[in-house]
Amino acid sequence: PAEPDLAGRHVVISAGGTREPLDPVRFLGNRSSGKQGYALARTAVARGARVTLVAANTGLPDPAGARVLAVGTAEQLREAVLKAAADADAVVMAAAVADFRPAVYAAGKIKKKDGEEPAPIALVRNPDILAELSAERPRPGQLVVGFAAETDDVLANGRAKLARKGCDLLVVNEVGNGKAFGTDENEGVVLGADGSSTPIPHGPKEALADQVWDLVVARLA
Ligand code: PMT
Repeated sequence: PAEPDLAGRHVVISAGGTREPLDPVRFLGNRSSGKQGYALARTAVARGARVTLVAANTGLPDPAGARVLAVGTAEQLREAVLKAAADADAVVMAAAVADFRPAVYAAGKIKKKDGEEPAPIALVRNPDILAELSAERPRPGQLVVGFAAETDDVLANGRAKLARKGCDLLVVNEVGNGKAFGTDENEGVVLGADGSSTPIPHGPKEALADQVWDLVVARLA
């Protein structure tokens, strides 16, 4: 059994991918399965934490011992995470959140009309939840952890993203070509606002999760 080094702590974790509806039958989404976020939730429960898991479109079984809040869109995820974060010691944003949503939601199914070109989809920006959490720290001393899904210039993009978002730790993982999304294994580098850089070797998503909690525990102490 794991050491209960998160006992007495409340941690909030987001998992899965948001879906931004276009009409009653269609959405813009992404390939996140939720597996990495659920691994974070299971390992945090095992280490004694009170866990709130905000799950976006995952279809995975609820981790035993965690409070699970199901959401659909980025706006809903924001509301659930910010509310739960009010008394959280740490927030970990493993969800893949849509940066943009359709500007207009069509109440009826969008039809194709004979002889007409398809209409472009206008997008508007979604709120950046990680940046907002990092700026506001709903609870003093709260630790904020983000993930970065990158396809190229992984480390350079990760460093820039860490500075832009203002979080304490950023788990940079490479995606694309069958990596990270939907798999049972992952690898990456955890960049710290303090300049630290911790490589996490290839292994089960639980192992990556435990190494993230090690870094969190060291910083909460
Ligand atoms: O779910 P799996 O199939 O197991 O795959 C795991 C994963 C690849 C989804 C996960 O490991 C991961 O990388 N999650 C973050 C995906 C992502 O959205 O990365 P990003 O680089 O676009 O966003 C950076 C950070 O900002 C993330 O913490 C994200 O939650 C957050 N964000 C992004 C946009 C937005 N509008 N609000 C946010 O809070």
